[in-house]
Amino acid sequence: MKIIRTTEDLRAYRTSLDGAVGFVPTMGALHAGHRALIEAAKARHQHVVVSIFVNPMQFNEAKDLEGYPRTETEDQQLLQTLGVSALFLPPVMALYPKGDHYVVDELLLSQDRCGAARPGHFRGVLTVVLKLLNLVQADVAYFGEKDYQQFELIQGMATALFLNTRIESVPTVREADGLAMSSRNRRLSKSQRRLAAKLYPCLLDSESDDAARTALSHAGFAVDYVTSAKGRRFGAVRVGAAPDEIRLIDNVRINA
Ligand code: PAF
Repeated sequence: MKIIRTTEDLRAYRTSLDGAVGFVPTMGALHAGHRALIEAAKARHQHVVVSIFVNPMQFNEAKDLEGYPRTETEDQQLLQTLGVSALFLPPVMALYPKGDHYVVDELLLSQDRCGAARPGHFRGVLTVVLKLLNLVQADVAYFGEKDYQQFELIQGMATALFLNTRIESVPTVREADGLAMSSRNRRLSKSQRRLAAKLYPCLLDSESDDAARTALSHAGFAVDYVTSAKGRRFGAVRVGAAPDEIRLIDNVRINA
Protein backbone atom coordinates (compact mmCIF):
# COMPACT_ATOMS: atom_id res chain seq x y z
CA MET A 1 0.00 0.00 0.00
CA LYS A 2 1.39 3.35 -1.06
CA ILE A 3 1.22 6.10 1.55
CA ILE A 4 0.81 9.57 0.09
CA ARG A 5 0.98 12.79 2.08
CA THR A 6 1.05 15.61 -0.48
CA THR A 7 -1.44 16.71 -3.13
CA GLU A 8 1.38 16.75 -5.72
CA ASP A 9 2.24 13.09 -5.00
CA LEU A 10 -1.43 12.14 -5.10
CA ARG A 11 -1.91 13.74 -8.52
CA ALA A 12 1.26 12.02 -9.82
CA TYR A 13 0.08 8.66 -8.43
CA ARG A 14 -3.36 9.09 -10.01
CA THR A 15 -1.81 9.89 -13.41
CA SER A 16 0.25 6.70 -13.18
CA LEU A 17 -2.82 4.48 -12.68
CA ASP A 18 -4.39 2.46 -15.46
CA GLY A 19 -7.87 1.02 -14.83
CA ALA A 20 -10.87 1.87 -12.68
CA VAL A 21 -10.43 3.62 -9.33
CA GLY A 22 -12.73 3.41 -6.30
CA PHE A 23 -12.37 5.96 -3.51
CA VAL A 24 -13.32 5.78 0.18
CA PRO A 25 -12.84 9.06 2.09
CA THR A 26 -12.67 8.65 5.89
CA MET A 27 -11.64 10.44 9.06
CA GLY A 28 -9.89 7.32 10.38
CA ALA A 29 -10.68 5.34 13.57
CA LEU A 30 -11.73 2.68 11.07
CA HIS A 31 -14.40 0.10 11.89
CA ALA A 32 -16.53 -2.54 10.17
CA GLY A 33 -18.58 0.20 8.45
CA HIS A 34 -15.44 1.47 6.68
CA ARG A 35 -14.46 -2.11 5.91
CA ALA A 36 -17.80 -2.56 4.06
CA LEU A 37 -17.14 0.58 2.00
CA ILE A 38 -13.64 -0.63 1.08
CA GLU A 39 -14.89 -4.12 0.23
CA ALA A 40 -17.60 -2.63 -2.02
CA ALA A 41 -14.88 -0.64 -3.80
CA LYS A 42 -12.48 -3.61 -3.98
CA ALA A 43 -15.16 -5.78 -5.61
CA ARG A 44 -15.60 -3.34 -8.49
CA HIS A 45 -12.38 -1.45 -9.10
CA GLN A 46 -8.84 -2.36 -9.93
CA HIS A 47 -7.45 0.30 -7.60
CA VAL A 48 -8.86 1.49 -4.27
CA VAL A 49 -7.73 4.76 -2.73
CA VAL A 50 -8.63 5.57 0.90
CA SER A 51 -8.09 8.93 2.57
CA ILE A 52 -7.79 9.59 6.28
CA PHE A 53 -8.22 13.25 7.15
CA VAL A 54 -9.85 14.60 10.30
CA ASN A 55 -11.34 17.65 8.65
CA PRO A 56 -11.29 20.64 11.04
CA MET A 57 -13.80 22.60 8.94
CA GLN A 58 -16.67 20.19 9.61
CA PHE A 59 -16.38 20.30 13.43
CA ASN A 60 -18.54 23.03 14.88
CA GLU A 61 -17.17 22.43 18.38
CA ALA A 62 -13.45 22.55 19.26
CA LYS A 63 -13.94 19.93 21.98
CA ASP A 64 -15.41 17.46 19.47
CA LEU A 65 -12.44 17.91 17.11
CA GLU A 66 -9.98 17.54 20.00
CA GLY A 67 -11.67 14.34 21.25
CA TYR A 68 -12.12 12.73 17.84
CA PRO A 69 -10.52 9.26 18.04
CA ARG A 70 -7.24 8.87 16.13
CA THR A 71 -5.88 5.35 15.60
CA GLU A 72 -3.45 5.80 12.72
CA THR A 73 -1.28 2.73 13.28
CA GLU A 74 -4.22 0.29 13.55
CA ASP A 75 -5.91 2.00 10.61
CA GLN A 76 -2.86 1.53 8.40
CA GLN A 77 -2.60 -2.14 9.39
CA LEU A 78 -6.26 -2.75 8.56
CA LEU A 79 -6.01 -1.00 5.18
CA GLN A 80 -2.93 -3.07 4.34
CA THR A 81 -4.83 -6.28 5.17
CA LEU A 82 -7.77 -5.20 3.03
CA GLY A 83 -5.51 -4.77 -0.01
CA VAL A 84 -6.01 -1.02 -0.45
CA SER A 85 -3.80 0.39 -3.22
CA ALA A 86 -3.05 3.80 -1.70
CA LEU A 87 -3.71 5.74 1.49
CA PHE A 88 -3.84 9.53 1.30
CA LEU A 89 -2.89 11.00 4.68
CA PRO A 90 -2.49 14.75 4.19
CA PRO A 91 -1.60 17.28 6.90
CA VAL A 92 -4.19 20.08 7.37
CA MET A 93 -2.03 22.58 5.44
CA ALA A 94 -2.09 20.37 2.35
CA LEU A 95 -5.87 20.65 2.00
CA TYR A 96 -6.30 24.10 3.54
CA PRO A 97 -3.28 26.14 2.50
CA LYS A 98 -2.93 29.46 4.31
CA GLY A 99 -5.26 32.07 2.89
CA ASP A 100 -7.63 29.54 1.33
CA HIS A 101 -11.11 31.02 1.69
CA TYR A 102 -13.08 29.04 -0.87
CA VAL A 103 -15.94 26.92 0.45
CA VAL A 104 -18.88 24.93 -0.91
CA ASP A 105 -22.34 25.78 0.42
CA GLU A 106 -25.62 24.02 -0.26
CA LEU A 107 -28.59 26.22 0.53
CA LEU A 108 -31.55 23.89 0.99
CA LEU A 109 -31.11 20.31 2.27
CA SER A 110 -28.09 21.29 4.39
CA GLN A 111 -30.25 23.61 6.50
CA ASP A 112 -32.35 20.99 8.28
CA ARG A 113 -31.72 17.88 10.45
CA CYS A 114 -27.97 17.70 11.23
CA GLY A 115 -27.42 20.99 9.38
CA ALA A 116 -29.74 22.82 11.79
CA ALA A 117 -28.14 21.19 14.85
CA ARG A 118 -24.55 21.69 13.64
CA PRO A 119 -24.21 25.04 11.82
CA GLY A 120 -21.38 24.99 9.27
CA HIS A 121 -20.95 21.21 9.44
CA PHE A 122 -22.05 20.45 5.89
CA ARG A 123 -20.10 23.39 4.48
CA GLY A 124 -17.00 21.68 5.93
CA VAL A 125 -18.00 18.26 4.61
CA LEU A 126 -18.80 19.45 1.08
CA THR A 127 -15.69 21.62 0.87
CA VAL A 128 -13.29 18.85 1.86
CA VAL A 129 -15.06 16.18 -0.21
CA LEU A 130 -14.92 18.37 -3.34
CA LYS A 131 -11.18 18.86 -2.79
CA LEU A 132 -10.66 15.11 -2.32
CA LEU A 133 -12.81 14.14 -5.31
CA ASN A 134 -10.94 16.59 -7.54
CA LEU A 135 -7.60 15.18 -6.41
CA VAL A 136 -8.45 11.47 -6.58
CA GLN A 137 -10.53 11.60 -9.81
CA ALA A 138 -12.10 8.23 -8.95
CA ASP A 139 -14.73 6.48 -11.03
CA VAL A 140 -16.89 5.89 -7.94
CA ALA A 141 -16.69 7.22 -4.35
CA TYR A 142 -18.43 5.31 -1.53
CA PHE A 143 -20.26 6.71 1.50
CA GLY A 144 -22.08 4.98 4.37
CA GLU A 145 -25.86 5.26 4.76
CA LYS A 146 -25.63 6.01 8.50
CA ASP A 147 -24.72 9.55 7.45
CA TYR A 148 -27.56 9.62 4.95
CA GLN A 149 -27.94 13.42 4.77
CA GLN A 150 -24.21 13.66 4.07
CA PHE A 151 -24.54 11.08 1.29
CA GLU A 152 -27.49 12.95 -0.29
CA LEU A 153 -25.65 16.27 -0.15
CA ILE A 154 -22.46 14.86 -1.69
CA GLN A 155 -24.42 13.11 -4.42
CA GLY A 156 -26.31 16.36 -5.07
CA MET A 157 -23.04 18.31 -5.24
CA ALA A 158 -21.54 15.83 -7.71
CA THR A 159 -24.58 16.27 -9.99
CA ALA A 160 -24.85 20.04 -9.59
CA LEU A 161 -21.15 20.67 -10.21
CA PHE A 162 -20.78 18.07 -13.01
CA LEU A 163 -18.11 16.07 -11.19
CA ASN A 164 -16.54 13.07 -12.92
CA THR A 165 -17.01 10.74 -9.94
CA ARG A 166 -20.21 8.76 -9.32
CA ILE A 167 -21.36 8.82 -5.69
CA GLU A 168 -22.73 5.58 -4.24
CA SER A 169 -23.97 4.55 -0.80
CA VAL A 170 -23.38 1.36 1.19
CA PRO A 171 -25.88 0.13 3.84
CA THR A 172 -25.14 0.83 7.51
CA VAL A 173 -23.17 -1.86 9.34
CA ARG A 174 -24.44 -2.54 12.87
CA GLU A 175 -23.12 -4.08 16.08
CA ALA A 176 -24.89 -7.29 17.21
CA ASP A 177 -27.32 -5.22 19.33
CA GLY A 178 -28.21 -2.91 16.43
CA LEU A 179 -26.02 0.12 17.20
CA ALA A 180 -24.79 1.65 13.95
CA MET A 181 -21.00 1.46 13.63
CA SER A 182 -19.41 4.87 14.19
CA SER A 183 -15.96 6.09 15.15
CA ARG A 184 -17.61 8.10 17.93
CA ASN A 185 -18.87 4.88 19.62
CA ARG A 186 -15.35 4.46 21.04
CA ARG A 187 -15.99 7.47 23.27
CA LEU A 188 -19.08 5.94 24.94
CA SER A 189 -18.82 4.80 28.58
CA LYS A 190 -20.28 1.38 29.46
CA SER A 191 -23.63 2.83 30.56
CA GLN A 192 -23.77 5.22 27.58
CA ARG A 193 -23.04 2.27 25.28
CA ARG A 194 -26.02 0.37 26.77
CA LEU A 195 -28.26 3.39 26.21
CA ALA A 196 -26.90 3.94 22.68
CA ALA A 197 -28.18 0.50 21.64
CA LYS A 198 -31.75 1.77 22.13
CA LEU A 199 -31.54 4.36 19.34
CA TYR A 200 -32.05 1.85 16.52
CA PRO A 201 -35.10 -0.01 17.96
CA CYS A 202 -36.77 3.27 19.01
CA LEU A 203 -36.52 4.54 15.41
CA LEU A 204 -37.47 1.21 13.87
CA ASP A 205 -40.34 0.05 16.07
CA SER A 206 -42.20 3.32 16.76
CA GLU A 207 -45.50 3.94 14.98
CA SER A 208 -44.71 7.60 14.23
CA ASP A 209 -41.98 10.22 14.56
CA ASP A 210 -43.72 11.58 17.66
CA ALA A 211 -43.82 8.12 19.24
CA ALA A 212 -40.11 7.62 18.43
CA ARG A 213 -39.26 11.00 20.00
CA THR A 214 -41.16 10.03 23.17
CA ALA A 215 -39.56 6.57 23.33
CA LEU A 216 -36.07 8.09 22.94
CA SER A 217 -36.68 10.68 25.68
CA HIS A 218 -38.04 7.99 28.01
CA ALA A 219 -34.99 5.83 27.32
CA GLY A 220 -32.78 8.70 28.55
CA PHE A 221 -31.56 10.49 25.40
CA ALA A 222 -31.63 14.21 24.72
CA VAL A 223 -33.37 14.24 21.34
CA ASP A 224 -32.11 16.62 18.62
CA TYR A 225 -34.63 15.51 16.01
CA VAL A 226 -36.72 12.66 14.66
CA THR A 227 -38.15 13.12 11.20
CA SER A 228 -39.22 11.01 8.23
CA ALA A 229 -38.69 11.54 4.52
CA LYS A 230 -38.42 9.40 1.39
CA GLY A 231 -39.21 6.15 3.20
CA ARG A 232 -36.68 6.63 5.98
CA ARG A 233 -36.93 7.77 9.59
CA PHE A 234 -33.95 9.84 10.74
CA GLY A 235 -32.94 10.49 14.33
CA ALA A 236 -30.20 12.35 16.19
CA VAL A 237 -29.71 12.16 19.95
CA ARG A 238 -27.14 13.15 22.53
CA VAL A 239 -25.84 11.18 25.50
CA GLY A 240 -23.76 12.50 28.39
CA ALA A 241 -23.43 16.07 29.61
CA ALA A 242 -21.89 19.07 27.83
CA PRO A 243 -19.07 19.64 27.03
CA ASP A 244 -18.38 15.88 26.79
CA GLU A 245 -21.70 14.84 25.32
CA ILE A 246 -21.68 12.45 22.37
CA ARG A 247 -24.05 12.86 19.46
CA LEU A 248 -25.39 9.75 17.74
CA ILE A 249 -27.33 9.60 14.49
CA ASP A 250 -29.07 6.80 12.68
CA ASN A 251 -31.80 6.16 10.13
CA VAL A 252 -34.03 3.22 9.25
CA ARG A 253 -36.27 2.29 6.35
CA ILE A 254 -39.97 2.62 7.16
CA ASN A 255 -43.12 1.87 5.20
CA ALA A 256 -44.06 5.42 4.16
O1 PAF B 1 -18.07 10.65 6.92
C1 PAF B 1 -16.91 11.05 7.13
O2 PAF B 1 -16.05 10.34 7.65
C2 PAF B 1 -16.54 12.48 6.75
O3 PAF B 1 -17.61 13.34 6.92
C3 PAF B 1 -15.94 12.59 5.32
C4 PAF B 1 -16.97 12.20 4.27
C5 PAF B 1 -14.71 11.71 5.20
C6 PAF B 1 -15.53 14.05 5.05
O4 PAF B 1 -14.60 14.49 5.97
